[in-house]
Amino acid sequence: MSCARLGLSLLLLAALGWAQDERGSEDSAHPKREGPGHSHWSYADKAQWQSSFPDCGGQRQSPIDIDTNSTVFGHELQPIVLAGYNLDPSERLSLRNNGHTVVLKLPGSLTIASGYSQEYRAKQLHLHWGSPEGPGSEHTVDGRRYDGELHMVYYNPSYRSFEEAMRQPGGLAVLAAFLQAGPEDNVHYQPLLEQLPEVREEGKETTVAGFNIKRLLPSNISRYYRYSGSLTTPPCSQTVNWTVFNQTVLLSQKQISLLQNALQGDDDEALQNNFRQTQSLHGRKVLASFQPAIGA
Ligand SMILES: *[C@@H]1O[C@H](CO)[C@@H](O)[C@H](O)[C@H]1NC(C)=O
Ligand SMILES: [Zn+2]
Repeated sequence: MSCARLGLSLLLLAALGWAQDERGSEDSAHPKREGPGHSHWSYADKAQWQSSFPDCGGQRQSPIDIDTNSTVFGHELQPIVLAGYNLDPSERLSLRNNGHTVVLKLPGSLTIASGYSQEYRAKQLHLHWGSPEGPGSEHTVDGRRYDGELHMVYYNPSYRSFEEAMRQPGGLAVLAAFLQAGPEDNVHYQPLLEQLPEVREEGKETTVAGFNIKRLLPSNISRYYRYSGSLTTPPCSQTVNWTVFNQTVLLSQKQISLLQNALQGDDDEALQNNFRQTQSLHGRKVLASFQPAIGA
């Protein structure tokens, strides 16, 4: 009995010692690393992402500035059709603060049924935002940054998993919508926003009752931009078929402020300004599903 316990203590000590060494060596190379399950990158060291994640230095990176004078009308772009978004409240969705953003897991039954050359299946959605000092969308339009940005992340189900799809050309799709302060509360965002205090600290998780996920998107999804890019966080995989909607989503200033102040990231600091700088196009074309108004 006591012998077994001594053995266990020794094992624990060994494990602790090992963890200490791990942290020591990691600390020197990556100051932000804190151990298993923790973030291995931060928005403070964006310039260094590519030394650990080579794709972050590639030529098809996201986000980008959308220059509306340079977009090309894409005749071939089909209306986006979304299926399966009105979830029953009995369905519980996981909501988690991962230290970089808040992530709502989505059932694979939510799909982009049409609008791409193949069907995509939902994985998760998350948000990007700024701070009381400034806006925090990732994409910009004609140099303008919006208050925030919603990303719904999808994968091509012909690959076995999200992780496998992430490595394949066209394996991923993201639907992006700009969040903008308006005069009224947006009731459709309440199920998500009211749970934020529950996941204030990094790593915290709760659940949200199913609701109509489609209502988080703009009411008009027929006007959008399309281009080939990447994940905007490490590993920056260049396998994302982006759709950025032209119509913005309005939240009240109070809701935007809640988003800016509800969460903590690394080091118990406010999780704010979780957006990446816009990346060069390197010759890529941005298509628009609509034609600009003549003379506007
Ligand atoms: C939407 O399209 C119009 C017309 O090109 C443009 O002026 C406006 O900046 C666009 N807004 C967004 C958010 O894309
Ligand atoms: Zn994102």
